[in-house]
Amino acid sequence: MNRIPRHHPLRLRRSVLSVPAANARALAKSAALDCDAIIFDLEDSVLPEKKAEARAALVDHFKTLDRASGREHVIRINPPDGPDGALDLEAVLDCMPDAVLLPKVCEPQDVLTVADHLSEAGAEEGPRLWAMVETAACLLNLAAIAETGRTHGGRLDCLVVGLNDLRKETGIADIPGRPFLVPLLLQVVVAARASGLDVIDSVFNDFSDTEGLEAECRQGRHMGFDGKMLIHPAQIAAANEAYGVPEAEAAEALAIVAAFAAPENAGKAVVNLAGRMVEKLHADQAGRLLAKADLINERKKKA
Ligand code: COA
Ligand code: MG
Repeated sequence: MNRIPRHHPLRLRRSVLSVPAANARALAKSAALDCDAIIFDLEDSVLPEKKAEARAALVDHFKTLDRASGREHVIRINPPDGPDGALDLEAVLDCMPDAVLLPKVCEPQDVLTVADHLSEAGAEEGPRLWAMVETAACLLNLAAIAETGRTHGGRLDCLVVGLNDLRKETGIADIPGRPFLVPLLLQVVVAARASGLDVIDSVFNDFSDTEGLEAECRQGRHMGFDGKMLIHPAQIAAANEAYGVPEAEAAEALAIVAAFAAPENAGKAVVNLAGRMVEKLHADQAGRLLAKADLINERKKKA
């Protein structure tokens, strides 16, 4: 069997900002921010007694959203088997966001139940699913959870790491450089890629520490993440920068694509580029990077 995954279409997910749905000022502010995706949060950032109010505010807010902005609008719901989760799913059907982010996923069925619910409610083409990776059980079942992205209409298309919950449950220390978390983070990246999913690194809580954030963004990029979940507008620029396409990398990608297009290299699977071997796979990789650079330029024009 061919196990090479088919990737979902390329989407910009450099900066994924969480906005508490109960915070009217943050909701209002979010429309003008330069992030690639917004997660409107109904879960942990909203007190139990504020859930209903937050849901209502979110439904109103969605009526004002510019759906042609190219930015993704995601709703993080409460656990779907609880009373708030069921009501959140009703709000989702009203809002029709680009995706629903599922909290505290532990096993494949947690994803499949919501995928089936959306299909049964007639939202066949409707919201995709994103899954939080924030429980120890999720890490143990990661491959099977990620694999749900190939079934049920491919609704699952992104994993988002949640280290605050994971550290709370496991006791893994919060140390700069994340030495004991890196092995787990890499596991999430590999599981996502094996099933063709995007993967977003966890939030950085200290939003006044710009240097610390920049270092963690670079680290996430080096591990293979597509972007970072954020908690504050001041964090957007660092994530866009770290997960963007530096000019030198774009120039390199252009050179690789040009080398394979050159007449003298026609029909070659491997090429000598100024003393370095480049293979067809590097040209594919370069093409994807250039497509990402195009998306970033389009986004800038819309801003
Ligand atoms: N989205 C949009 N706007 C935000 C924002 C966010 N996540 N966080 C802060 N802002 C706004 C504030 O409303 C404020 O706007 P104003 O000047 O119009 O009032 C401005 O940015 C500056 O905010 P600041 O005073 O620096 O921070 P704060 O004390 O208002 O908020 C937090 C700090 C941490 C409480 C807030 O950033 C937050 O709630 N973040 C998201 C938390 C979350 O989603 N958690 C769940 C996922 S881990
Ligand atoms: Mg959480």
